[in-house]
Amino acid sequence: MSFRGIEGDPRQRGAQEPQRPQIGTEFDFGGVKESVVTRDDFPLEQARQVLGKETIAVVGYGVQGPAQSLNLRDNGFNVIIGQREGRTYDKALEDGWIPGVSLFSIEEAIKRSTQPERPLKPGQIQYLLSDAGQKDQWPNIRDLLSSGASLYFSHGFGFTFREQTGINPPEEIDVILVAPKGAGRSVREHFQAGRGINSSYAVGQDATGRALERTLATGMAIGSGFLFETTFEDEVFSDLTGERGVLLGAVYGLWQGAYNVLRQNNLSPHDAVLHTVEISTQTISKIIGEKGGDGLLKDLPPNLVPYFLGGLRSAFERSRSVFEDLYGKVATGVEVTRVLEANSKPDYRETLNRELAEIAGSEFGRAATNIRERRKDGPTVAEKIENRFDAVMAGALIGIMHAQYDLFREKGHKPSEAFNETVEEATQSLYPLVDRNGIDWMYANCSTTAQRGALDWNGRFRSVLERGFVDAYQERVVSQSLLDYIMDSEMWKAGETVRYLRPENQRLVR
Ligand SMILES: NC(=O)c1ccc[n+]([C@@H]2O[C@H](COP(=O)([O-])OP(=O)(O)OC[C@H]3O[C@@H](n4cnc5c(N)ncnc54)[C@H](OP(=O)(O)O)[C@@H]3O)[C@@H](O)[C@H]2O)c1
Repeated sequence: MSFRGIEGDPRQRGAQEPQRPQIGTEFDFGGVKESVVTRDDFPLEQARQVLGKETIAVVGYGVQGPAQSLNLRDNGFNVIIGQREGRTYDKALEDGWIPGVSLFSIEEAIKRSTQPERPLKPGQIQYLLSDAGQKDQWPNIRDLLSSGASLYFSHGFGFTFREQTGINPPEEIDVILVAPKGAGRSVREHFQAGRGINSSYAVGQDATGRALERTLATGMAIGSGFLFETTFEDEVFSDLTGERGVLLGAVYGLWQGAYNVLRQNNLSPHDAVLHTVEISTQTISKIIGEKGGDGLLKDLPPNLVPYFLGGLRSAFERSRSVFEDLYGKVATGVEVTRVLEANSKPDYRETLNRELAEIAGSEFGRAATNIRERRKDGPTVAEKIENRFDAVMAGALIGIMHAQYDLFREKGHKPSEAFNETVEEATQSLYPLVDRNGIDWMYANCSTTAQRGALDWNGRFRSVLERGFVDAYQERVVSQSLLDYIMDSEMWKAGETVRYLRPENQRLVR
């Protein structure tokens, strides 16, 4: 994989390239072939053979911890929980984990897994504390990791940014990653419904020669249906950029910017919300999720296409440099240093809550809440895009998606990852949640790393995007090359394969 050397990039500081998988099925993502590991390639029975002689200690019972450990338990693996006492520990009790048998302190769980009695082998630590908690607890657990054990993450954060987090695992242990593409709740719900979650996987350090098979085995054991290869760095760079960008930060900047311009044009708060966030989450996002951006464009009434293209060109061109700056700050660790510093302050939670309350209490926030409440009286917007304001918004949303996706591809991310972190998570998870509960709720229910980042970056996006709406609402853009760019783009073709691989289309055999 090529990477256009950003100074301080962890890949230049000795991070290992992943092993090539020996197995997998080729899928075509917009003309690029990727090897995806399916249940046929790596059945659950094989996972049981790989992990059968190990105790898996799931450390942390927050969001991913319960989902992954319960799926592992239901799949017949030998799993225990490490959790400090308090509310979260009580949740583990409620889920049937037994103190002294399957529920322990963090240190005790790690010892039982990595220093087991014969004939068990050194096992796996699933390090599922919050990102800040991982940094905090590392000095207490580092020396408990015995030779031959594996350290598993569901996010590339702690290991990639080890200069900032201090998480430097000993050389004699495997370091592996399986990152489910969805919230913890989906990991469990899909499993219970007999479907698989999709996950990405990576090997960061192969001490035993078994790191790859351990990774794939764990991926299947926690309930994945398809496993997409990535690296620790790619996973965390795309994740942090995506949440600051299209998924949370840039999209709020986009809505705010458009809202401000519509208000300056004398639309009421109610109407300005209808033509920004409401049309986006009620209609545009659903169409993109079902048919892609190319599908949306094909169905657009011809008289609205020039407005769509105006919104697209403006948002794409204006947001590009902000995305580049953002990616650079993520890849060099600048963003992480800042977020860890901000979120380590004793009053970090109050600060975040205050900023979220400001969003909820703003004119935009109040109008959006009002409209959501009125939906019970009937639909607020049309199912199709029917006027120029909404065509501009559709174009602009697709414009920031293209800007982020293209950047990911230039930086060497695979199409599946670039699409997932840009379009799939937006249309299948985050925008539907904004639709139901509002943007402040959505932020509050993401990780604190995501919240801090999105709150810090949305203003940058708003200030560049807002100016573009002034012209885009008036201007008709006629451009065959722009039309071709969307209709022929790799992104929307890759999206067809991603849609085909969705959990809804899977049935898992246990
Ligand atoms: N949330 C998701 O859906 C999701 C999706 C994909 C990947 N991930 C990744 O999965 C990992 C776990 O995330 P999560 O969202 O499940 O966890 P989380 O809710 O952010 O973390 C909660 C867990 O961390 C513990 N914790 C926090 N600070 C601690 C400290 N200083 N000392 C000891 N324990 C501490 C909590 O215990 P207490 O309750 O006692 O504080 C709880 O067990 C992260 O790497 C995350 O990036 C999460």
